[in-house]
Amino acid sequence: MTRVVLASANPDKAAEIAAILGDAVDLAPRPAEIPDVVEDGDSLEDNARLKAVAIVEATGEPALADDTGLEVDALDGAPGVHSARFAGEDAGYQDNVDHLLASLDGVAEPERTARFRTVALLRRPDGSEVVVEGTVGGRITTEPRGAGGFGYDPVFAPHEGGGRTFAELTADDKHAISHRGRAFRALAARLRAGQE
Ligand code: IMP
Repeated sequence: MTRVVLASANPDKAAEIAAILGDAVDLAPRPAEIPDVVEDGDSLEDNARLKAVAIVEATGEPALADDTGLEVDALDGAPGVHSARFAGEDAGYQDNVDHLLASLDGVAEPERTARFRTVALLRRPDGSEVVVEGTVGGRITTEPRGAGGFGYDPVFAPHEGGGRTFAELTADDKHAISHRGRAFRALAARLRAGQE
């Protein structure tokens, strides 16, 4: 089984990714001494690549990185690659949610369509890559609902969620349809099929 170093140091994300990938790879945690990279790419794929390359260069081993954005149609795809700092450089989840709701003030329900998009990128020391994507479509609600999840979950109601927001679903129900769940399941399938 190929050993792959995970670029994300977030323990919740790491556990979720490990559970999805199962025995498709031997997932190693990110070494604590490797500094964070500046995620200043123009696309989710660029940012995932920046993170993966930094780990490959520091460890000499294959690395797996992901990057996620929320694309809101009425905002021409914003915040997209800037989702983590939509309300400013030091913005927290609540600031970003507040800013999103304010940006959509007056936009009627049918026009509040959006999607989460995750790019997962596995990069090897020889420069070869496996790049996959996962998306989930939904609507931005007019007010936050639910206590689960993180980030924009309280204001994102996936089309397949029966009217509930991601924050009102259990973690398992969320990841059965989520952008990240879909991206990493696609990656696991590609690796298991031995196409890569
Ligand atoms: P990251 O690339 O996974 O760090 O995600 C960038 C930003 O997108 C995060 O700071 C969150 O604001 C948002 N985000 C990513 N995944 C999710 C999710 O599953 N639910 C809600 N927000 C998310």
